[in-house]
Amino acid sequence: MAKITANHVRVSILTVILYAYVTVVAVTARVLPSHPYVNGQEKPIAKIYDTSKYGILQLGNGLATTPQMGWNSWNFFRCNIDENVIKETADALITTGLAKLGYNYVNLDDCWSEPDRNSEGKMVPDSKAFPSGVKALADYVHSKGLKLGIYSDAGLYTCQIRPGSLKHEYDDAALFASWGIDYLKYDNCFNMGIEPEERYPPMRDALNSTGRTIFYSLCEWGVHDPALWAGKIGNSWRTTDDIEDTWESMTTIADINNKWAAYAGPDPDMLEVGNGGMTYQEYRAHFSIWALMKAPLVIGCDVRNMTAETYEILTNEEVIAVNQDPLGVQGRKVDTYGPDGCYQIWAGPLTEQRTVVAFWNRCSKPATITANWGAIDSILLPVSPLKIYGSAQVDAHACEMYILTPVIARSAT
Ligand SMILES: *[C@@H]1O[C@H](CO)[C@@H](O)[C@H](O)[C@H]1NC(C)=O
Ligand SMILES: *[C@@H]1O[C@H](CO)[C@@H](O)[C@H](O)[C@H]1NC(C)=O
Repeated sequence: MAKITANHVRVSILTVILYAYVTVVAVTARVLPSHPYVNGQEKPIAKIYDTSKYGILQLGNGLATTPQMGWNSWNFFRCNIDENVIKETADALITTGLAKLGYNYVNLDDCWSEPDRNSEGKMVPDSKAFPSGVKALADYVHSKGLKLGIYSDAGLYTCQIRPGSLKHEYDDAALFASWGIDYLKYDNCFNMGIEPEERYPPMRDALNSTGRTIFYSLCEWGVHDPALWAGKIGNSWRTTDDIEDTWESMTTIADINNKWAAYAGPDPDMLEVGNGGMTYQEYRAHFSIWALMKAPLVIGCDVRNMTAETYEILTNEEVIAVNQDPLGVQGRKVDTYGPDGCYQIWAGPLTEQRTVVAFWNRCSKPATITANWGAIDSILLPVSPLKIYGSAQVDAHACEMYILTPVIARSAT
C-alpha cells in the first residue's frame, strides 16, 4: 500500500521511454470520467483496461464522478443506532481529520425508523433512538459541513422489517428531501419477486422529482448483474452479497466485483477495516484493493474509537488519491500465479498516464511477487519489445501498492 520506493523494481532500458516510481501527486483538476475515451485530455493507454462500457449510461445528477466516501452505521452498529451515536460519529469524522480527507457522507443504515408508517402513511423515525427526528440530525450533520444519508428498501419491508418504499417512492423521496437527506441506500429485501429492473427506476425518478441532489446507491446484491443495466438508474450499485468481517468474505467479494471492471459504479460493499475480524495486513489489503477497484470508501467501524492501525489505514492519502483519481477507471486483477493463483497482480490506469499496481499475496506465507509487464498486455505494449519486470516482497495476505509514472529518458547513444 503506497510504499513508494524505487528499489523494488529493475527496469531494463531498451527505448527512450522508461517508467520510474514516484510519489503520487495530488491531482486537483476534476476531469469528468463520464467516458474516459471521449475525453480529449486522456487517451486510452492500454488494451487490458477495457473501459468500453464505462460510464456511457451514467445517471445525470452530477454525483459519483469519483467513488463516494463516508461512513455507514451497519457494519459495526447493526440496529444499535441512535441520534447521539450519529452525532458523535459526525464529530469524530471532523476531529480525526477523516472528513478533510473526503469521508463526508454520514449514512444511517437499517433500523432508523419505526416499524409502521403513521396514519398519513409517512415513515416515522424511531421515537426512542431518534427523538429529535431526522431533520434535526441532518441540520446537525450539515452544520459540520457533512452530508446525511438514509436507508430504505425496494420492497415491502427493509431487511430488519421496517417499512419499505416499494409503491411509496414519491412520498418517501419527498419526505427524505424535506429532511435534507443527501444519500439513499436502497436495499432489496421483501421484494415480492418483482424484477429489480422494475423496482429501482421509480425511486430514481422520485428522488429526481424532489429537486434535491441525492446520491442513489442501489443495494441489489448483484443478483441481476446490475452492471448491465444500473448505470442509468443509480450512482453506484452493489455487485455482491453483504461483506463480512473475514478474510474469506473480503477476498471472495473482491473477485466477484472484479468481473465488472469494464463498467462504472460497482460497489463491493462497505469497509470492514477496524472491526476486528481481520489482521492488520488483511485490512491494509482490503483498503488498497477497494481503492484500486474504485469502490466506494465507506467506513464501517466505530470512528469514535479507532486504533492507531485503523486510523493509519483509513487516512493513507496516497491510497485515497488512487481511489479518487479523476480518470475514474476501475483497476482489476491482471495476473495470478503461484499456489492456487495466490500471487496476484492488480493494476489500473490513472490520470497523467500513470498506472497503479498492487502486489497482493493471498498465500499464507511471505513471497516475492513479480509482475511481468510484457506478459500481461500492459500499458508498455506500445513500446514493445520493451520488457519490464517489477517485483515486491509481500507478507502473507499483505498488499503492496505502487504508482508507475512515465518519465522521458534520453537514449544513451
Ligand atoms: C434530474 O434528472 C435530470 C436528467 O438526468 C438531470 O439533469 C437533473 O440534474 C436531475 N436533477 C436532480 C435533482 O437529480
Ligand atoms: C474501543 O475499542 C476497543 C477495542 O479496540 C474496545 O475494547 C473498547 O471497549 C472500545 N471502547 C468503547 C468506548 O467503545
